[in-house]
Amino acid sequence: MNSCILDSAAITELLGPQQPFSIEANDHTRRMLERWQQDYGDFYQVRDTRRPDAHWVVNRPDLVHQLLVRRADHYAKGMGLDRVRILLGNGIMVSEGDFWARQRRLIQPAFKPRSLADFNAMIHAENLALAKRWQARADAGESVEAVGAISELTLVIVLKSIFGRDYAQLVAGGRNPFSLLTEEPSRNLRFAARFHRLKGVVDSIIEQRLSAADTAFDFLGHMLSVRLRNGESMSRTALVDEIMTLIVAGHETTASALAFAWYLIAADNAICRRLQQEIDTVSDDELAATGGNGPRQNSPRLPFTDRVIAETLRLYPPGWLLSRRATVGHELGGHPIAAGTQLFISPYILHRHPDYWRAPDRFDPDRFADARTPSHRMAYLPSPRGRVTA
Ligand code: HEM
Repeated sequence: MNSCILDSAAITELLGPQQPFSIEANDHTRRMLERWQQDYGDFYQVRDTRRPDAHWVVNRPDLVHQLLVRRADHYAKGMGLDRVRILLGNGIMVSEGDFWARQRRLIQPAFKPRSLADFNAMIHAENLALAKRWQARADAGESVEAVGAISELTLVIVLKSIFGRDYAQLVAGGRNPFSLLTEEPSRNLRFAARFHRLKGVVDSIIEQRLSAADTAFDFLGHMLSVRLRNGESMSRTALVDEIMTLIVAGHETTASALAFAWYLIAADNAICRRLQQEIDTVSDDELAATGGNGPRQNSPRLPFTDRVIAETLRLYPPGWLLSRRATVGHELGGHPIAAGTQLFISPYILHRHPDYWRAPDRFDPDRFADARTPSHRMAYLPSPRGRVTA
């Protein structure tokens, strides 16, 4: 314990565990957050092992709303993103202030439901191909290694969404250079160095697009064409950083969400049967055209499937630990927060908060059939408004 940085007065005043702890995105931290939630509630302090100041852990939905929405201008990205910065340069995941706002305005239109719908046919074809491979294994009485296969599936989908027909060129040598994302589990400095080298691959595809004045429709095409009202567009360096960001952000989250979905479905025969019955009501052509949703996003053809995904994201949110840094001194929940203080929010803890979720550890997709779920909009961090509801 680094008792040298603590005086006894500070120890007794601390609202939280007395023992310093280093909060990191690992399983040990997750278990400690669960324990502290029981011991200290949903708003408490944790003193860092390496720094004299205490961080705040905020898992009270009304305060989370202040952090992420109402007073978002009091906060910047937190220390949890320091490592991500090494990997992704100044991409939108880690950038801040005016530069972030500008990049966000340039990128946001590509994420409109209408733009994303253009990827439905490709996503459907990739899923169908995987289903056929799995069916063949099942027919032969063999098992499948689902987590790896899903990781490869989501990587191909993300890369095809970004690079469109240039994907073929990416894998022309018989090997996908981005496969290290699926093969290498650690995200250490060695991984960062290997990943950085792939910037050259992205840059050469951009170079070709620019010289051919190509107007292909894909994320890259979108980013090359988009201009702000004043005519400004993205610099080449920023463009490479944003593409690298989309690859990592888009791959790891969806791979994790789908892997957990399969894990939960595989353990529950009744849910598996209901999913099968529902999917059988929609033809392959319809799925390829609409992704399973009707012409209006809020009238899905697959409401139960939608609930299974919502419930998976509740139990196992891929972004399960978020961090922010206070940029100005202010008050939060009746406590002074000094500028520079680090604050952590855990969707994993929020999504199992017993005040907001009945039988929180139970896999129960039907809880989302109730329009009053979630009972507080910030008790569930995939925003309820963004979720398709039946
Ligand atoms: C199950 C799927 C996903 C989940 C659960 C998820 C979750 C999240 C969360 C929690 C954040 C906020 C992080 C923070 O503020 O500290 C975030 C940000 C972001 N995500 Fe995702 N994500 C998913 C899929 C994707 C996909 C498919 C893409 C892109 C292809 C993507 C791109 C981004 C980007 C660019 C940001 C940064 C936005 C900004 O700071 O303005 N995500 N995501």
